[in-house]
Amino acid sequence: MVKRDDVGQQTRNRLVTIELFIHNPDRIKAIGFDSSKQPENNMTIPEPEKLFPPIPQHELSVAIQASALAGERLRQMFGTAQSNETKLEAGESVGLVTEADLQAERAILETLQAEFPRDGYFSEEDVNRSIAGHKRLWIIDPLDGTHNFAHAIPHFAVSIALHFDNQVQGGVVHNPLSDDWFVAWRGMGAWHNGHQVHVRNTSDLTQAMIATGFYYDRGSMMEATLKSINDLFRQNIRGIRRFGAAALDLCWVGCGRFDGFFEYRLAPWDFAAGSLFVEEAGGKTSNCQGLPLGLANSSILASNGNLHKTLQAIISKNWQDSVRVIKSN
Ligand code: IPD
Ligand code: CA
Ligand code: CA
Repeated sequence: MVKRDDVGQQTRNRLVTIELFIHNPDRIKAIGFDSSKQPENNMTIPEPEKLFPPIPQHELSVAIQASALAGERLRQMFGTAQSNETKLEAGESVGLVTEADLQAERAILETLQAEFPRDGYFSEEDVNRSIAGHKRLWIIDPLDGTHNFAHAIPHFAVSIALHFDNQVQGGVVHNPLSDDWFVAWRGMGAWHNGHQVHVRNTSDLTQAMIATGFYYDRGSMMEATLKSINDLFRQNIRGIRRFGAAALDLCWVGCGRFDGFFEYRLAPWDFAAGSLFVEEAGGKTSNCQGLPLGLANSSILASNGNLHKTLQAIISKNWQDSVRVIKSN
């Protein structure tokens, strides 16, 4: 079984092309995508101080530029034959890598590495990525929501975070179709399209809207997720959503659209920028057992803070049950 983490050079060497949908301009028009928008070389990079009014950090400006370039590539490739050419590692049943993931990643790495050649880079599709031995580490998901992208569902994002001094210090999450920008710097708040945002302060589960996601697993982790959804509904939660882009789920917690988000396994590129956004918006993040998030793959619980303990009690119980099943197999 090929691990998701090994998708990289092997994937590029042994590509199996599958057609997820036939390119259909009418379908793309129907979902509101306008392919006549300006091409990449005429594109306007947003002014960082408009997206993040407190003292613009140079790192944030460059991360915004990299996100804009990658986002433009994704926007242009969305719904075209290139997004059809979804490449799947032989033997791996669900983890997808599209040409768009690779092109967006190239745009980001070229931009950041030109400016910060001495920093470390930990990017999802990069075969040379390394996590240890760097004072400063950029953590990158060039396309969060690949399955949405490949199915022409207009909900995906670019996610870039900068980690140093044992913490994520800055983050940018950009949805290029809606032109949404979520930007945070530690100690300077969470900003959505240039406006400072905060979590919603409900502490009542019956008024809470919770998001979740499913790891690429069809075994005990999936069971645990389904059990937690069931338990949450039994406690009369207002609603549960699964939109398919964890970085956006987290930012939406920060904006107060969701009151919590959990997933039993995510990689640092999925959660680094978004978890800082939640914290800077006044929320709380941890793994499902309440421990701090680190740089490893992890379970994750993000909330408005008020609901953290309540959610954790439900989610951690089912997580422990699933770990027990994994261990006993
Ligand atoms: C995925 C998305 C999805 C989450 C998966 C992630 P990808 O990232 O964030 O919402 O449920 O666990 O792997 O593969 O689209 O970058
Ligand atoms: Ca991701
Ligand atoms: Ca990705």
